[in-house]
Amino acid sequence: MNRIDKLIGDMTLAEKLGQLTMTAAGYAVTGPVIAGDSTDAIRTGAIGNLLNLVGPGPVREMQRLAVEESRLGIPLLIGLDVIHGHRTLFPIPLAEACLFDPQAWELTACEAAKEAACDGLAMTFAPNLDVSRDPRWGRTAEGPGEDPWVGSQLAHAKVRGFQGASLASSDTLAACAKHFCAYGSVTAGREYATVDISERTLREVHLPSFVAAVEAGVAAIMPAFMDLAGVPMTANTALLRHYLRDQLGFDGVLVSDYNAIGELIRHGVAADLTAAAVLALKAGVDIDMMSDAYRCGLPVALERGLVSMAEIDVAVRRVLGLKERLGLFDDPYRRGSKIESPEAVAQRRRLARSVATRAMVLLKNDHDTLPLSDTLHRLCVIGPLADAAGEMPGCWSTCAVPEGQVSVVAGLREGLPQTRIATAPGVDIEGGDRSGIAAALELCNGADAILLCLGESATMSGEAASRAFPDLPGQQRALAEAVFERARAQRIRVTVILFSGRPLVVPWLAEKADALVAAWFLGSEAGNAISDVVTGRASPSGRTPITWPRALGQVPIFYSERPSGRPADSNDRFASKYLDTSSEPLYPFGHGLSYGRFTLANLRVTPQLVDEDGTIAISVDLTNEGKRAAEETVFLFTRDKLATVARPKLELKAVGKITLQPGETGTVNMNLRAFDLRFLGLDLAPVFEPGDVEILVGPCADRSRLLVGAVCLTAKPALKGAAQVSGPAMKR
Ligand code: NOJ
Repeated sequence: MNRIDKLIGDMTLAEKLGQLTMTAAGYAVTGPVIAGDSTDAIRTGAIGNLLNLVGPGPVREMQRLAVEESRLGIPLLIGLDVIHGHRTLFPIPLAEACLFDPQAWELTACEAAKEAACDGLAMTFAPNLDVSRDPRWGRTAEGPGEDPWVGSQLAHAKVRGFQGASLASSDTLAACAKHFCAYGSVTAGREYATVDISERTLREVHLPSFVAAVEAGVAAIMPAFMDLAGVPMTANTALLRHYLRDQLGFDGVLVSDYNAIGELIRHGVAADLTAAAVLALKAGVDIDMMSDAYRCGLPVALERGLVSMAEIDVAVRRVLGLKERLGLFDDPYRRGSKIESPEAVAQRRRLARSVATRAMVLLKNDHDTLPLSDTLHRLCVIGPLADAAGEMPGCWSTCAVPEGQVSVVAGLREGLPQTRIATAPGVDIEGGDRSGIAAALELCNGADAILLCLGESATMSGEAASRAFPDLPGQQRALAEAVFERARAQRIRVTVILFSGRPLVVPWLAEKADALVAAWFLGSEAGNAISDVVTGRASPSGRTPITWPRALGQVPIFYSERPSGRPADSNDRFASKYLDTSSEPLYPFGHGLSYGRFTLANLRVTPQLVDEDGTIAISVDLTNEGKRAAEETVFLFTRDKLATVARPKLELKAVGKITLQPGETGTVNMNLRAFDLRFLGLDLAPVFEPGDVEILVGPCADRSRLLVGAVCLTAKPALKGAAQVSGPAMKR
């Protein structure tokens, strides 16, 4: 008999339910979820898993109680939200997505795992795979942006990075893909609100990143808080059990979100905690995070015959299986026993700096305002985010040490030792006080250049951070307008460094700034990275993974819309457009400038006729006609102009990159699989239709800037894996 069978045979019901319970460390000490002394609860086996316990000392002590003082000695599973770094913070996920570089995505996850494992952790509640097309939603900051293909690439890379080659290794973490699924479509961008979308959108936009995570072997998945068409995800049997488990074959652990099982009562689908526990267990949720519904409700449910012991055992087996895969039975202290070398820590900081440098998106750069001139004597750095080290790490940074964060001013002082740097906040990030504006303007007088550091605070994005007015908060616009006026009078160029966890709707700012950099939140090395880019030590190369609206009324706005029967570009009044603003975004998906200037030519598509399972090789020549070396990103979109079901105007299928010296020409090669040209038909099964497909290649999702080729599909490509899934998913 193997270890897990034997344990399950020996366990009491209370011990089993302990394995299905995850409690926050803070609560574990004082209640209110687990009453009494939590150390006792660990000793008795009433708590089998913890979240938010960090550090080798505390982890070892709690683990010791479980392993040495509980009856069966089952180790605890300890998890934390390691979302974009742990002690060393990398850019927030939306910013990291701007790299369009799976290798970098994997590397930061791998480094975060090492650091978190040194702190005793065995699990992270990441990656966040929520596709978002609504900047009002604060959690846009945590995800890959608007595109499902990007989400899928990111899912693969992050799972590989966190989990490494073996979960049993002392420096890997179990990943938990979240939030399953379609959380990014909450009504009006309001956190935790209902989602009601078509099944086609569900399958084509929101499921692919989770399919990718499952393919990559993700250890766990967390259902989202919200309901989908009336069925809360925590109780969504169709999607959790029938789709994830039965159809995709996901055999890992389903961990509820924080108190989400208990919240089934407020959703109005469960009368009490017992009913909630039954719904969640039946749907396939293994671990109850913070509701205490399983411990309180399942004994009653068992008694009433609403669940069976066999159903409980299946969940227990999965949790124990994960603990075994993590090597916890063999050595429960393997994580948290290692002290990293200073060189390993320094190397991680270098990675954080280079990824942050590459995450920035240069949205605008008129008159070559950037990079700043080498001969700068006086630089004026104004704004509430100019010297705000504590804001730099971004939304998920509970373990960041305050002294480890580099502000913009600190980074510039380091990077420009010969330049006199004057700085003033002018105004607070939020609040109504304008009294500091005059002093800030004084400093601008006679400056060679001005950097305006504006935006949101770090906590204005992330969880529970929806904004109905996603623009500059407080009095920042008043400050900016005053600075622009002063700068214009004195012919000083103004670069705006914009901090945010979402595309802010600030068309006036984009209009008035000479240069505009989307800095998002860049992590511990933010200031150094910004200094690298504005001084020209590095050329910016980030591309926006989400469309920038020019007006809030355009939201949701995304590049892969389907065509209208009355397109916006017609002159007719009766067209799909607004009376009061353009339908075009301020900046399209994929937009981002560099210090080079690239032209594309000579698009080659080989072969032009594609049959079964064919791979289509696509190449394009690029020349850097600018004066500086730079990296260029090239996007490959497809467009199926004629199909049974209307296809989006553009669909992203591949991304290529090249770095070229001034005057240099090079070729970017990309592959497109005929298999990827399928779509979901009316019965929601994948459909392949022979015929012409346009191939569009270029720097962003602005069709007018894309080179166009075509392939003709002649046979049905082989379908495989998840693509074969069909049937309705939204029924309980
Ligand atoms: C709630 C959040 O929705 C989820 O993303 C997170 O993992 C848990 N809290 C635990 O902190």
